[in-house]
Amino acid sequence: MFITFEGIDFSGKTTQVQLLAKYLINKGFRVITLREPGGTEISEKIRQILLEPKNELTSITELFLFEASRSDVVRKVIKPHLEKGSIVICDRFWDSTIAYQGYGRQIPIDFIEKCNFFASEGLEPDITFLLDIDIEIMKRRAKTNIFDRIESEGIEFLKRVANGFRVLAKQYNERIFVIDGSNTIEDIHKKVVEIIENRLKGRDE
Ligand code: TYD
Repeated sequence: MFITFEGIDFSGKTTQVQLLAKYLINKGFRVITLREPGGTEISEKIRQILLEPKNELTSITELFLFEASRSDVVRKVIKPHLEKGSIVICDRFWDSTIAYQGYGRQIPIDFIEKCNFFASEGLEPDITFLLDIDIEIMKRRAKTNIFDRIESEGIEFLKRVANGFRVLAKQYNERIFVIDGSNTIEDIHKKVVEIIENRLKGRDE
């Protein structure tokens, strides 16, 4: 089973990835967690280029770097683990590329969908959790002024990204579950577990 978490920065994804992994490991599942970009030596190097504030990248350079990182991690880590029957939980996957590079940077969505398809070798998450927060909450949570390159984009950019995620959630309403990210960590985790348990039950039947 391939599970992804999505949302704008400071939506609390990373905490939820860890909590869900712990929950599933306690239940006896083999679980691996990853973040995108990242997860392999090459992907981590690409991540450094992408997030370094001093790097000036064109939108297309940025898109191809995200896709290059994805191709590496899908082929070397995600697919092999799924084939072995592990649960893979990923902090961001290609919905982020549609939201950030498509809606945010305004690269045509149909082109991004094609890139996503080839980079992920047609792999689509089984379940995606979208932790939805308002930009205002994001700003409040972002206590520090040290932003990485993408987080330091303007407010209009982030609004387009947040809206992009909501559009995606409607488009893929059987896969993407929207959870209000302003709830407490415990409440969000409970909701996530409820949805996963239902899916696991369905799989056993
Ligand atoms: P990261 O520090 O991992 O952010 P977070 O902890 O909030 O997930 O940085 C990843 C950044 O890269 C984040 O701002 C979103 C952006 N991103 C894209 O623009 N496109 C993508 O395809 C992916 C995977 C991430």
